Amino acid sequence: MQVINSIKELQKIISNLKHKGKIIGFVPTMGALHQGHLSLIRNSKKQCDVTVCSIFVNPTQFNDKDDYNKYPRNFDYDLKLLEQIQCDITFLPSEKEMYPEPDHREFEFGHIAELMEGAHRPGHFNGVAQIVSKLFEAVPANKAFFGQKDFQQYVIIKDMVRQLSLDIEIIPCPIVREESGLAMSSRNERLSVSERKIAASISKILTWSKESYPQYTVPELKKAVIDKFSKIKELDLEYFEIVEDKNLELITNWNTNQKIVACIAIFCGNVRLIDNIVFNL
Ligand code: PAJ
Repeated sequence: MQVINSIKELQKIISNLKHKGKIIGFVPTMGALHQGHLSLIRNSKKQCDVTVCSIFVNPTQFNDKDDYNKYPRNFDYDLKLLEQIQCDITFLPSEKEMYPEPDHREFEFGHIAELMEGAHRPGHFNGVAQIVSKLFEAVPANKAFFGQKDFQQYVIIKDMVRQLSLDIEIIPCPIVREESGLAMSSRNERLSVSERKIAASISKILTWSKESYPQYTVPELKKAVIDKFSKIKELDLEYFEIVEDKNLELITNWNTNQKIVACIAIFCGNVRLIDNIVFNL
C-alpha cells in the first residue's frame, strides 16, 4: 500500500492509473477505522481496480471544538488495518495540505441542510462539503463510497456533486452494526462498557419503530419513540425525525412513493450518536 501526503503527487498517480484505463474507487474517512469503514473499502475493491482511502480529521466540520479535540486519532493502527485489507493507496494529508489558506466557500443546500444534523450542528455540512470537494479534487476517482450511517451526509454529497457537475458516482453502502445492533462509529470508543450496553437500545427502538409503524399515525409513532427514550435516563434524545429519502421532506402520513427513513441523534453520556433505519425496503 502506498501512503501519500501530497495532493500533487496523488493527482499524478491517479491520472497515470486512469490513463491505463483503471477504475478508481475512493473512500474518504476521518480515521479511527472500524468495520463500517472497512465495508466501504471492500465495496470499492469489488467495484473498482484501485481503491484510495483518505484519513483526515477535518476541523471545518466540527461545530464543537471539544468534539474535534476528543475525536479519536490512531493513524498507525488505521494504516495497519488498511494494509491488511489491501487498500491500494492511503491519502494522509496534513491540515496545511488541505487548507493552505482558510476556506471561505459557502455552500447552499437549502432544506436538506436545515433539519436534523444541519439544525443541531450549525456549519457542519458546509465544512463537510468544503473538505469533500477538496478531496474529490485530490482524488479524481470514478466512484466514491459513503455509508448510510450518515444518511443526511450522503444526501448532501449527492447534491454537492450535482451542483458542481462533478464527474464522480456516489455509491451508498449499508450501515454496519455491532452484534448488539449499535451502529459502528468512531465515537463508540468513547462509551464506557455500561454506556455501550445502554446505547444498544437505540437500534432496538428504531427496529421496533420499523416493525410497528403502520399501526400508528406519524405523530403517534414519533411520540411513542420519544416516550420510550424518555424512560432511559442515560440517553438524551436530540431529535427523531421521519423523512423521505430523496429530498428529506418530513412526512405527515405514510402515503408516499419514496422510501421512508427514520433518523435519530441522541446523547449517551457526553457522546453524541446518530443512527437511522429505512422503513419500506
Ligand atoms: P467518518 O465518520 O470517518 O466516516 C467515513 C465514512 O464511513 C462515511 O461515509 C460514513 O458514513 C461511513 N461509516 C461510518 N460508520 C459506518 C457504519 N457503521 N456503517 C457503514 N458506514 C459507516 O463521514 C465522515 O467521516 C466525514 O464527514 C468525511 C465524509 C470523511 C468528511 O470529512
